[in-house]
Amino acid sequence: MKIGIVGAGNIGGTLARLFTRSGHEIAIANSRGPETLHELVAELGDKARAATPLEAIAFGEIVVVSVPFGRFRELPPERAERKIVIDTNNYYPQRDGHFEELDSDRATSSELLQEHLKGALVVKAFNAIYWMHLRDRGRPAGDPERIGIPISGDDEEAKRIVAGLIDEIGFEAVDAGTLAEGGRKHQPGTPVYTADLRASELREKLKEKQPA
Ligand SMILES: NC(=O)c1ccc[n+]([C@@H]2O[C@H](COP(=O)([O-])OP(=O)(O)OC[C@H]3O[C@@H](n4cnc5c(N)ncnc54)[C@H](OP(=O)(O)O)[C@@H]3O)[C@@H](O)[C@H]2O)c1
Repeated sequence: MKIGIVGAGNIGGTLARLFTRSGHEIAIANSRGPETLHELVAELGDKARAATPLEAIAFGEIVVVSVPFGRFRELPPERAERKIVIDTNNYYPQRDGHFEELDSDRATSSELLQEHLKGALVVKAFNAIYWMHLRDRGRPAGDPERIGIPISGDDEEAKRIVAGLIDEIGFEAVDAGTLAEGGRKHQPGTPVYTADLRASELREKLKEKQPA
């Protein structure tokens, strides 16, 4: 599959390694320009290329957005229509600045990204796992140590495809619901956030009522 990755840091860079290792082609972008990504793409090999954010979005059948949340409106929305967009982002007001819709709990951060990338099929995933654990803790299906990854989104088919990718890189996706409900269940501060639970435990935890 062709995967565009916008954000080449801890999570974007780690996903680039995991996806190329499982045979996917990637185009990866940061904010400073493709010329600053030569070292990373050289390390990743011939399945990887450096790109601008617009090129990465245009390239991907699936697009990963993994930037500090406060910068999401800098992303060019025009080529994202009908594409699956994996949103790894978390809202940290001390880093991102305050967003009134999020502070008042009127929306989730993924819904704001969805609003910005009109027509995209946003699936929130990989936001609740620490990047080093994403890098190191993948396990084959059936391994008792395999970790569950909560995902949420409004399009069932998009979630199914993202769950397949997660499976390939050694984790088990657990559906937490829509962007509105699921986003709230696996955002920072929830019991499942960076808890590295097995899929069965994660499923149970996601059923529990969230504190108001
Ligand atoms: N770190 C974790 O363990 C972890 C775990 C789960 C989720 N997350 C969330 O995932 C997101 C990424 O986290 P991270 O730790 O990977 O961040 P990071 O290491 O700081 O990397 C951020 C990346 O985003 C790029 N970027 C920033 N603004 C951009 C823009 N307008 N267009 C294109 N690229 C842009 C940066 O490029 P430049 O360097 O060129 O500016 C950098 O490559 C955050 O929302 C974070 O909260 C992080």
